[in-house]
Amino acid sequence: MNFASDNIVGASDPVLQALVKANDGAMAAYGADDITKRVKARFSEIFEKDVTVLLVTTGTAANALALSSAVPPYGLCVCHKEAHVIDDECGAPEFYMGGAKLAGLPGAGAKLGAEDVSAYLHGLSKSIKQMPPKALSISQVTECGLVYGLDEIAALGRVCREHGLHFHMDGARFANALVALGCTPAELTWKQGVDILSFGATKNGCLMAEAIVVVKPELAEALDYRAKRAGQVISKGRLASAQFEGYFADGHWLANARHANRLAQLLADGLARIPGVRMGWPTEANEVFPIVPQVLDKALKDAGVIYHPWPGTSLPKGESVGAEEALIRLVVSFATREEDVHKVVEIARSAMSRLAAE
Ligand SMILES: Cc1ncc(COP(=O)(O)O)c(C=O)c1O
Repeated sequence: MNFASDNIVGASDPVLQALVKANDGAMAAYGADDITKRVKARFSEIFEKDVTVLLVTTGTAANALALSSAVPPYGLCVCHKEAHVIDDECGAPEFYMGGAKLAGLPGAGAKLGAEDVSAYLHGLSKSIKQMPPKALSISQVTECGLVYGLDEIAALGRVCREHGLHFHMDGARFANALVALGCTPAELTWKQGVDILSFGATKNGCLMAEAIVVVKPELAEALDYRAKRAGQVISKGRLASAQFEGYFADGHWLANARHANRLAQLLADGLARIPGVRMGWPTEANEVFPIVPQVLDKALKDAGVIYHPWPGTSLPKGESVGAEEALIRLVVSFATREEDVHKVVEIARSAMSRLAAE
């Protein structure tokens, strides 16, 4: 039972079928094919706006290229201190921004609050010695599994406008956030001031397909060149686009995300009912973060449940992980089976009652 991440599974059937369909015959290369044209138009329909779309193969490429469009080499990009862009991408954003820096701010649940960002920006010196802030990047879903509400994004959008910052959203789990909020892609992004989005699809059903969705035209100007220099102009582009065709057809992407979120809730509810287990953060999308006794952590691992430990640095105020406890992350994907969720809960429940009886 593998709950290590949502990218430990393969691609979903409709995505694979779309790929097989697109595989036949010859088509123009480098994204000049009809499938790519259709998919780009579909993004504009989905976002209810003429967006510029660049398809890439990884989330790191999407983030690094998106931020390189938004931040000049002398600029600063504000993000959470545990954001994927600052913590998990081996400096790719800074590398592609060509000298610019990421400034990581604290915030419970890996969320940034508008007031904190505003205070930080007001506190920066206007001196030539200070890199000027040029962009804000948030992760939706956050690294602690939380979903920014529309009002929270709107408030950050206002801060960006006040300070002249471009607003980037790392949407590696965009679909999970979307169905959690029950809003439209437009409401989740540009209607709240988001200018550029890393639209994740790999974790939710694709093989390796992510998109940069650009709302603000000036950020799209050099994107093709940046992508080429990063080796992200895919020669058999139709095979990247076909993944999106399968992903979007008949609301497949939303069904996948709903499945993952529902099972994550089931897992969280089941674990939270076990004495000695509590949640580090509430389960708002497809990730579950229980704080468990170390003996239970060991029992779960011994039973073959796979997951990662997680840092407790952004736990809510007053919450902490005790000396005999562990904070762990279990991620549910579109392919997770409900029976496996029940199995994990059962393993945890019986392990805890056995340990209590000893
Ligand atoms: C918040 C976040 N952003 C981006 C990514 C994409 O990273 P990758 O380059 O592994 O596709 C991930 C994947 O773990 C993520 O969790």
